[in-house]
Amino acid sequence: MLDPVLEAKKKAVEEAMKIVLDTKRDIMGIGNGSTVDMFIDLLISSSHLFIESYFVCASLYTARKLAEAGFKVLSVADIDTVDVYIDGADEVDPQLNLLKGGGAASTLEKIIASASNLRIYIVDYTKLVKKLGVRRSIPVEVLPQALSIVVKKLKEKGFGVYIRTLKEGKYGFVIADTGGVVIDVVPPQNIDPLELDRELKSIPGVVETGIFTKDLVDIVVIGYPDKVVVSRRII
Ligand code: 5RP
Repeated sequence: MLDPVLEAKKKAVEEAMKIVLDTKRDIMGIGNGSTVDMFIDLLISSSHLFIESYFVCASLYTARKLAEAGFKVLSVADIDTVDVYIDGADEVDPQLNLLKGGGAASTLEKIIASASNLRIYIVDYTKLVKKLGVRRSIPVEVLPQALSIVVKKLKEKGFGVYIRTLKEGKYGFVIADTGGVVIDVVPPQNIDPLELDRELKSIPGVVETGIFTKDLVDIVVIGYPDKVVVSRRII
């Protein structure tokens, strides 16, 4: 028997594919993470339906996987509009605000999502939370030159700050594909996601945060072991 979380993810990925196949998909944006990886595997097995599509990716890993499978991959710098964007998320709140960045790719993910006409996020039921950041810390990408200054300022504001380090392959900090250092922060008190995103980005040297407010979200496909729920943001 398949692991229930894996089964839930698989169901959500299949549902997301149905939505994509009903959508204009000349330029597709692709995020990063294990759920996105499952979506790419499904893309590979249905590649004949994506012959006309170009792909723009939030990570080198994803871009390479698609290119190796024969898909047409463009650089983010080559596009200004994306028809449909597919990604995962670490947390989803009841208003469909998201927390992302577990895979250290949230800056490019956010940039591509902001240029997309339809944003679809695929999650399993374990990602649903009442409030963002209660279960995990908030990923923040920092310009390397600004690391010490940003960490000091965050601590002065009462944030818990952890510089993310790699467990293997390199001894040191996690550097995003964009060149930024990934840190994880814990706010001193519960703040509304939009306000928290604004506060963090008001510090010079902070490149982006993993907070995706609901205006960057159109659809969240939530997989359960026995069903799928498609949540659409109410505008
Ligand atoms: C990467 C992300 C991922 O989408 C997020 O971490 C979810 O990953 P997974 O699908 O492996 O649970 O935000 O920056």
